[in-house]
Parts: sequence; structure tokens; C-alpha cells
Amino acid sequence: MVELEELPNVGEKTAQKLRDAGFADMMRLATATAKELSVKAEIGEGVAEKVIEAARKSEQIDFETAMDVMERRKDVGRVTTGSTGLDELIGGGIETQSITEVFGEFGSGKSQISHELAVTVQLPPEKGGLGGQCVFIDTENTFRPERIKQIAEGFELDVEEVLTNIHIARAFNSSHQILMADKVNELIQSGANIKLVIVDSLTAHFRAEYVGRESLATRQQKLNQHLHTLSNIANTYNVAVFVTNQVQSKPDAFFGSPTKAIGGHVLGHAATYRIWLKKGLAGKRIARLVDSPHLPEGEAVFKVITEGISD
Ligand SMILES: Nc1ncnc2c1ncn2[C@@H]1O[C@H](COP(=O)(O)OP(=O)(O)OP(=O)(O)O)[C@@H](O)[C@H]1O
Ligand SMILES: [Mg+2]
Repeated sequence: MVELEELPNVGEKTAQKLRDAGFADMMRLATATAKELSVKAEIGEGVAEKVIEAARKSEQIDFETAMDVMERRKDVGRVTTGSTGLDELIGGGIETQSITEVFGEFGSGKSQISHELAVTVQLPPEKGGLGGQCVFIDTENTFRPERIKQIAEGFELDVEEVLTNIHIARAFNSSHQILMADKVNELIQSGANIKLVIVDSLTAHFRAEYVGRESLATRQQKLNQHLHTLSNIANTYNVAVFVTNQVQSKPDAFFGSPTKAIGGHVLGHAATYRIWLKKGLAGKRIARLVDSPHLPEGEAVFKVITEGISD
């Protein structure tokens, strides 16, 4: 482990600023952008560039072989959604080192899956979990401990323990949301065994705060920065990131779906897996995998019951 103070251009003061801003480890520094670093740690952009450069050298960031990537993928963990059908659709549960996005209309089950995952991540690996804790960034005030209790009881888990392992952050606006995501780094560095970060909903605040065409560019830029933080957490600490997203109506769509996910290209590129949820008949929900680097497109059907998500 290389200490921050060992990097050229980093004295005690800068090191402290970096730590305070959540850049305590080399990999986190090496994968930051100069702009991000200069804003968050309040150092000049020139210094930021040099520090990042040095961190990259110390981490020996360079090309790697496909074999190395294969090796790293061996560490990928999976968290069950509670539905075997849905798990199979996405290759055995939601993955660490990736961002999984679900989007769909109101009541389609996005928050329900979020609650379910907050519990299942705590299960031991043989039961589909990662034996880890969870961070739940709640932007719409729809997190309900009562719901966690029901799901935990369905798995015959100790309810109090399950609730204690979920770190809730109620985000009041998009800046607060961005800040809370940054803080996850500190939480992990302080020793919390976080294996899942949920943001429900990822886009609601952004959508409400940046209205109109003229603010679109700023909105996308902020959202991009937020996603960058999340994907960094996923890769640096082998954590699964799960985000929910609303849809907007696309009345001009003649073929295909009349709705589309908010967030546009920015989100489309950042999320490794995108799942579109639809309400079906008799309480059924249909999940469609719309984008994956190595899995075929397909559909699965699941249900929301008292005990959570089920086939
Ligand atoms: N305890 C429960 N038992 C059975 N079904 C439930 C229970 N709680 C919620 N549901 C189902 O889940 C639905 C709500 O789904 P959810 O909150 O996940 O929607 P969402 O996709 O997050 O929507 P929004 O866009 O409004 O946030 C309810 O309409 C109901 O059908
Ligand atoms: Mg919801």
C-alpha cells in the first residue's frame, strides 16, 4: 500500500484534503478525473492532474490482457432478486463491478426489487447473497423498514440485524444525492462491508430540478458525474450498484415501446445491465433485458408478494 504522502506534489495538507474528499486510496485517485478531483478536494486542476498521474503510475495502470480481465471477473459476485426467472434473465442475479438499472412506469416494482435486494445481499453466498451490507440512497422517501421486515421474515432472518445492515441516506435534492454517493467511499474505507449500493430513484431529482432544453446539458453532465462515482465504487470495491429510473412517454413512437428511460445516452452507456419493467395481468410483472454486454435479450415474469419478489 502506497500512502498519499509518498506521491510527488502531495504534502501533508494536500493529503488531508484528499482524504477528506474521500480519495484515500490509490485506485480511487487513479481513476478520478482532474476536474472531479480539483472540485471535490479543492486543489488546483494542475496539481490534480499531477496527483492522478502519480497515482496511476503507482497502481501501474496500463493495458491488461483479456486473461487479466477474465481473472478479475472471477471475483464478480451476484445477488439474487428473489425470482429465479429474473435471476436467470440477468445471468444469475445482479452483478458486482457493474451498474444495473431498472426502469419502468409507476408501480412496476422498481422500489420493491430495491427493498428485496437490500435484504438478499445479506444472505450467505450459498443462498444467493454476498453476506454484506447495503447502502440505500432514497430520493423519493419511499424506503419502508416495514417492507424490509416482511421480506426478512420471508427469509427467516433476524429482522433487527437485517435493518441494522442497511445504511439509509435520504437525499433531498440532486446535490445531496451526489454527496451521499461520494460518502459511500468513506463508509467503505472506514471498514463497513458494503456489497450493494441502491439509488432509488437515480433520476427523479435531476428531472425535477433541471427542466427545459436549456438545462439539459447541465443535467446530463451532473448525472454523468454521479454515475462516474457509482461506477468507481462498483469497480474499486467489488460492489453491486442498482439504480432505478422512471420512463417518460414518447408519444411519437410508432413502433416498439411508447415509453423510454430518462437519462438518455449518459445512463445508457453507464449501466451495464438495463431492465425494463412492465405491469402485467393479475399482479404479474414482466422484466425485459434490453442491454447487456454478454447476455441475449429476453423476458422474465415475476410477482410482488408479501415476502417480496417471487416467481
Ligand atoms: N406488501 C406488499 N405485498 C404485495 N405487493 C406489494 C406490497 N407492497 C407493494 N406491493 C406492490 O408493489 C407495487 C408498488 O411497486 P413499486 O413501489 O416497486 O413501484 P415503483 O416501480 O417503484 O413505482 P414508482 O415509479 O412510483 O416509484 C404496488 O402497487 C403493489 O402492487
Ligand atoms: Mg419507487
